[in-house]
Order: sequence, then C-alpha cells, then structure tokens
Amino acid sequence: MISRTTIDRVFETARIEEVVGDYVVLKKRGGNLLGLCPFHNEKTPSFTVTPTKGIYKCFGCGAAGNAVGFLMAHDQLTYPEAIKQLALRYQIEIEEDQRTQNDPAYQAEKSQRDRLWDLMAFAQQYYTRLLWDHPSGMAIGLSYFHERGLSDTTIHRFGLGYSLEQSAALVEMATQSGFTTEELELAGLALTSETRGPYDRFRGRVLFPIYHVNGKTIGFGGRTLKTDRKEAKYINSPETPLYRKSESLFGLHQARKAMTAAGFVYLVEGYMDVISLSQAGVENVVASSGTALTREQAALIHRFATEVTLIYDGDQAGIKAALRGIDILLENDLRVRVIALPEHEDPDTLARRLQGEALKEFLNDNAQDFMAFQQNLLLKEAGRDPLRISSALQVVAASIACVGDPILRAMYIRHLAEDAGIPDASVQEAVVQQFKLKAKRSPNTTTSTVPTPSPEGLAQTLAGTKDETHTVPDLQPLSDIPQETEILRLLLLVGHQPMSQTSADESVSIVEYMGETLLSLTWDSPSCRVLLELCLARWQMEGCLPGNHELMNHADQGIATMATRWYTENPQISPNWDQMHDISVPPPHDNLNKEIQTTFDRLLLKKILRHSRLKQVELQTLQQSPEGYDHPAISQILRDIQELKEAERRITACTGIVITH
Ligand code: UTP
Ligand code: MN
Repeated sequence: MISRTTIDRVFETARIEEVVGDYVVLKKRGGNLLGLCPFHNEKTPSFTVTPTKGIYKCFGCGAAGNAVGFLMAHDQLTYPEAIKQLALRYQIEIEEDQRTQNDPAYQAEKSQRDRLWDLMAFAQQYYTRLLWDHPSGMAIGLSYFHERGLSDTTIHRFGLGYSLEQSAALVEMATQSGFTTEELELAGLALTSETRGPYDRFRGRVLFPIYHVNGKTIGFGGRTLKTDRKEAKYINSPETPLYRKSESLFGLHQARKAMTAAGFVYLVEGYMDVISLSQAGVENVVASSGTALTREQAALIHRFATEVTLIYDGDQAGIKAALRGIDILLENDLRVRVIALPEHEDPDTLARRLQGEALKEFLNDNAQDFMAFQQNLLLKEAGRDPLRISSALQVVAASIACVGDPILRAMYIRHLAEDAGIPDASVQEAVVQQFKLKAKRSPNTTTSTVPTPSPEGLAQTLAGTKDETHTVPDLQPLSDIPQETEILRLLLLVGHQPMSQTSADESVSIVEYMGETLLSLTWDSPSCRVLLELCLARWQMEGCLPGNHELMNHADQGIATMATRWYTENPQISPNWDQMHDISVPPPHDNLNKEIQTTFDRLLLKKILRHSRLKQVELQTLQQSPEGYDHPAISQILRDIQELKEAERRITACTGIVITH
C-alpha cells in the first residue's frame, strides 16, 4: 500500500494539463484548455481542462475528474497504479506500507481483471526471456529478427518474443507461478483439448505483443517460421476481456508521442511494416493488423492525430479492396492521404532501402490526397464506358458524403465534376443521394440505435426548403445515447443505495426514486431502455440489481456490449464492484449519488430541449400551412412548448446545468 504522504505529494505536484496533455491535444481557450474528448467519439471539442482547479470535464459525455481519475479512466489503471504512474512522472519517491505484491492476501484481493493484466505481463516477460536467453529462442527467434534487419534496440522497444515448440511450456510456467488454467484460457494464451488437457496457443513462433495505449500487453500475434503451407502464417490472440481487436492498433503505444508531434500517422498492414518503419526513423506508424478499420480505431487515431496516410503495397487488387475501408476515417474527421508503393515493394522493404530523412522525404513526396487518388484510379479503370463511369462516380460520391468539412466537400465535388467532365450539380446530387443512403444504413454509434433526424434537418424538410445540399450536415443524428448509457452505468453502480438527499424518506432507493421518470422518457437506445426495465423489475421482485456477469451474457447485444465495456474499462466502478473485494481502493468519485443526480438532470434536460425543438419545428410548419395561425393544433403545441420551457427553467434553476447543443 502506498503511504498517505506519497499520495498527498502526488496530488500536490501533478498538473492536470500535463497529465491530460500526454494523451489529448489541448488548445488554450481563456483560462481553460480545450480538446477532443478521449472518452467518447466527438468531432468538435467539448473536453475542458481547468488547470486552476486541477480537473477535466467533458461537456459531451460528462466524464470528469482529477489527474488520478483521468489516468484511471483513460489507461484503465487502478487507484494505486495511477498514483504510482504520476509519482514516476514527477519523480516523487514512493513510500510503501508493509504489504507487497508477493503477499498472498494481497493477491487474493485483486480482481480477476487485475490478474489477467498480471498474467499478460508474465507471459510477455516469459516470451521475451526465451528469445534472449533460451538456446532455441536465440538460435531460431532472435536470429530470425536479426536476419530481418531488426536491431536489438528495436526488438526490445517492441517487446518481441519467442514461444517454444513444446505443447504446454507457458501453461506450466504460469500455473507454477500461481495462475490458473482458466485464467490462461481467458487471457487467450492457452486452449484445452479433451485428450491433451490445457496447451499453449503460441508454439514455435516469434511473437509480436499487442499493447494497450497505456503500454500494457493485451495480446500477441505469433508468426510461424516454417515454410509449411498448411500452417497459418500468423496466429493471433482471440478477443479477451483485455484485448478487443476492433479497438486496438498495433504499434499505437510506441507511436503515440511521434503522432502528436507530427499531427499525422502512417497506417500500414503488417506488424513487420510498423517495426521496420519505426526503426528507420518513421515512428508515427501503426497497423490495423490485416482487418478492415473500425470506427473505434478511427476514433483512437483521432485522439493523437488529425491525418492518416495509408501506405499500400504495389499491387492494384490489394489497393482496391483497401479503399473500401477508408470512409470510416473520413467520417471521423480525419484527413486521408495515400501512398501507393511501387510494385514488389512494401513498407518493410522500403524501410530497409531508405532511412531517416530520405525515407521521410520519399513518403512525403509520394503521398496523394485520398479523394484524388481514388477518383483517378476508378475513373481510369472505367475507361469510356458510361455505366462504369457512373458507378465509379457513385463510389467517390459516397466518400465525399463522409467528409464533414463543408468547404472541403465543395472542393471535392468540384474536382470530381471537372475530372469526369460533368456538371457540378450532378455530382452534388449524387453526394446527397449517397448521404441519405448512408444515414439510412448506419446510425452514428456502434451500439444498437434508432436514428433520429435532428430538428434543424427536419425543419428544412418540413418547411419545404429544397436546397438539399444544406441539409446534408444536419442529418447527423443528435443522440442522447452517451447520457443514456451513463445513467444506466451509474444506476447499476449506486442504484441500490438510499436516496439520501431526500432525507424525508431515507428508505427510498435511487433506482426507485428515478425509475418512473426515466421510464417516461423517449429513449434513443433501445438497449438502454430494455436494461432500465430489467433493473426496475429486478428491484421490485428481488430487491437487487442485475449483476455484471448476467449482463455481459445478456441476449441483447447492446446490453452485453455495454456491460463488457463497463467491466473492462473501469473495474472499480463496474456494476459488480461489491464482488470484487477491491476494498482498499476508494471509488474514483467521492460522491456518486451526486453524480448520478447530475447525470439524471442533464439527461432530462437534454430530452426536454430536444422535445421543445421538435415542437418549435411543428409549430413553424403549421404556421406556414394554409390555415396559418388558425390551425386547430397550434394552441396545444404552444401549451406544450410553454410546459417544456417551464420544466427546463426548473431544472436549470436548481442544478445550474445549461445545455447549449
Ligand atoms: P502479411 O502477410 O503482409 O505479414 O500480413 P507481415 O506482417 O508483413 O509479415 P512478413 O513480412 O511476411 O513477415 C499483414 C498482416 O495481416 C495479419 C497480420 O497482422 C499481418 O501482420 N495476418 C496475416 C494475420 O493475422 N494472419 C495471417 O495468416 C496473415
Ligand atoms: Mn511483410
């Protein structure tokens, strides 16, 4: 346990702007600093850091806290880990009490997730040691890396390792060190066969550890060194409580600093490509590990850079396939450039040919804006065939529809029209069409959602404004899902506690107190609503709330995803906190009751404001109808608006919350 004096000193010394600044690009805005929130996906900054108060706060998703809380939330650290990290950063000596890591009682108290982190660290160390110290590790693994031109420094920097041929080398070592076979399986390191029992997933392979942004190992990619065609070239860790493939990028931890400095990142395909480029001096490079890019990965990139440069190997087929994934980057407000390497060259071979400034220069000279690149490629391919030209145009129009910046969008439209030799208006029409298709296909979050048109967009549609290009940006759904999710997370966490603020009746629990009101709202997320109903029913029937395990296995995928996320993101404040025995760790916020009240008020207020806006739109439409002010429905709408205004005023008055968007 860390001593009180150390903790106090850390709090006195840590500067919130520096701690957050390691992860988020912050710009000065008056006395505050402003940046893109690392806790939710946003395009316009609503994440504020107030140095004088030592706190951060996001007005979009409500995330807030001090420097320690930030590290806990962002890097998924426990309280003591966050304190230690800050102590290290500010060179504060750590005084510890008697109990240490080796104390069995201390180990038993740790949560399962903490044990998985430990197990991954153990495996990482074990595999690295084999590479450097074991005869076959050195003879096979290390010499392979050397042959591929990697220096010892690089091998260390990326934590590369080697796994023995034996079937259960890791299983044996790890179980001897107190880990269970269940944990090994859960961490994706072992498998069990009925005949053989537990055995290692990675055998006789060189290993590329995959890190979380915080630098802890969450998975491995293992490359075979055999030429045997029957064996898969790579075996990768499966999804585990720590490793979510769609939310991690290979090399991000190592690339982070260089990305923030350069403002952009190179995206390549393979593990070796990342490592070679990095060794050659281009450190702002990550890989998506051979799969299509996800929204989460794009958002992750956006936290450290505003531009992505994709590097493709020289073969045309590969490029065309890869082009399809790029819209996700554009949608996340990332500028995209493309480098198509000459035939028979990949980033790895390139980095062996050129290094340092020469390499940087080559990359810079060969990068083209993605839109122009795609346009040229597809139009060239289409030749003079009108049908093929048209379908090429649709593909480019779909990409243009992903671009958020209206000026950039207009420029792309102009270029495409020019190159294809057709009027601007036709391209514009195609873009609007693609935009509508997209809005229909994909609501803007990953959890199951119902798309809701924004009032402004609706207003123009209803008011008959025909200039459709203007409605394009407004079609972005204005969703309350972040707040809805947050209220449920908090409800599961503290809902069973008495609603102490209403001292009149101490016995009313928070879930009872808020339940009715919450049920009466219109929910954007069907999963949140189902979960709310489940909570209320369970409370009424059994006097408790559903447990985390039950929710992670819930048939509703939205619920299962939310629960898993809560569980993996922040074990201390996950719904089953009381089962986790993490008693020595205080909850990250002193007053969760207050927090839930605020979130509740904020959600109510958002719903009210949205409802008001829709009513205003309705009003406007009716006023413009032939009956005008005489329309029979108008007086009811005016009454509704009045009522909503009143409710808004009440909440604003007693909470001080003001919502402007
Ligand atoms: P590559 O085949 O290009 O691999 O696959 P590489 O990393 O460049 O390896 P070398 O240069 O042949 O040693 C690109 C990426 O696709 C994923 C891996 O993430 C790999 O880095 N991949 C490939 C797999 O996951 N499984 C496979 O069987 C093959
Ligand atoms: Mn390669």
